[in-house]
Amino acid sequence: MSPWFSQDIGVDLGTEKTRIAVPERVLLEEATLAVLAFEDDVPRIVASGEEAETMLGRVPEGLEVVRPLHHGVIAYYEITEALLRYLVRKSRVGSWLFRPRAMITVPHGVTSVEQRAVYEAMLRAGAREVYLIQAPLAAAIGADLPIGTPAGNMIVCMGAGATQAAVIAMYGIVSAETLRKGGQDLNEAIVNYVRKKYGVILGPTTAEEVKRAIGAAVPLEEELSIEVQGQHQVTGLPKAVTLVTSEIVEAIYDVLQEMVATVQKVIEQSPPELVSDIIDRGVALCGGTALLRGMDRLMTKELGVPAYLVDQPLHCTVLGAARAVALYPRLRRHLPRLM
Ligand SMILES: Nc1ncnc2c1ncn2[C@@H]1O[C@H](COP(=O)(O)OP(=O)(O)OP(=O)(O)O)[C@@H](O)[C@H]1O
Ligand SMILES: [Mg+2]
Repeated sequence: MSPWFSQDIGVDLGTEKTRIAVPERVLLEEATLAVLAFEDDVPRIVASGEEAETMLGRVPEGLEVVRPLHHGVIAYYEITEALLRYLVRKSRVGSWLFRPRAMITVPHGVTSVEQRAVYEAMLRAGAREVYLIQAPLAAAIGADLPIGTPAGNMIVCMGAGATQAAVIAMYGIVSAETLRKGGQDLNEAIVNYVRKKYGVILGPTTAEEVKRAIGAAVPLEEELSIEVQGQHQVTGLPKAVTLVTSEIVEAIYDVLQEMVATVQKVIEQSPPELVSDIIDRGVALCGGTALLRGMDRLMTKELGVPAYLVDQPLHCTVLGAARAVALYPRLRRHLPRLM
């Protein structure tokens, strides 16, 4: 609908992936990653996004792979700005003359300094105007939850670096909590478990592969198994281990319980009327970590409220951010305000 000269985009700046969308569709999804080269101690970006991802774990000496976001917040400002500029250009929205308006996500509950960093980075990356939106609010819009009604809607964004639970009504967040742990912490728990039990060290990419191939939040009726290569802790030599689902369930139990507790806390903080709405409507789960086998069953069991996976768990947040630009007049009172 929008004329070509006034494009609105949504940007979901995630710990692991950055996505850009217009209200109708996702334009781009790439790793939040950069490869740096150092010349006389001065860093220079040699690869970003997708290209940097292909170099993970195999960069030659003198180069360094950097994740500019840690647990959902900017850790390396210049790299984030450069990455955003690169991705905006690549998504081919706007032009030097007609720069897009951008609605960009921030995790709920981050400091004003952290919010300001996201705002500045997006502005310098080429946006004409920048608005910030809490990720769970964007996700609820993208998941088509009826957030404009007085009834309570609950959504949990389960990403790579953070878990954010929120209750939303009348276009605003009523109560919310952020745990700075996500899928990356599940991988770490798997690495620790295998090291302790088998004396074998798995690389981060292998841990991710194990989690996706056989991982689950609750025991499965039929165990899955996988053989992977690690490095023997003492000899340093390659060593194969075979892992089964129940071991992964055990390995990640503690981290999952922290995620459950975060959701429980938000339910407890919500007014009773909204809680009864949530019991009726269920808890919506989104983000990559919500794709873990049995995550909906774990949440349903532990919360005593039905939990379900939304239609587009990986894309609802960025689509919601893009759609939020048009909703700005109604949302503005509830969006993060820069100090
Ligand atoms: N099928 C799957 N099973 C388990 N975990 C998965 C699966 N697919 C993706 N993930 C996990 O989802 C996470 C990525 O999710 P997502 O893209 O929502 O994160 P993000 O937006 O980059 O991070 P955040 O929102 O925390 O800043 C990774 O930790 C990844 O391991
Ligand atoms: Mg995310």
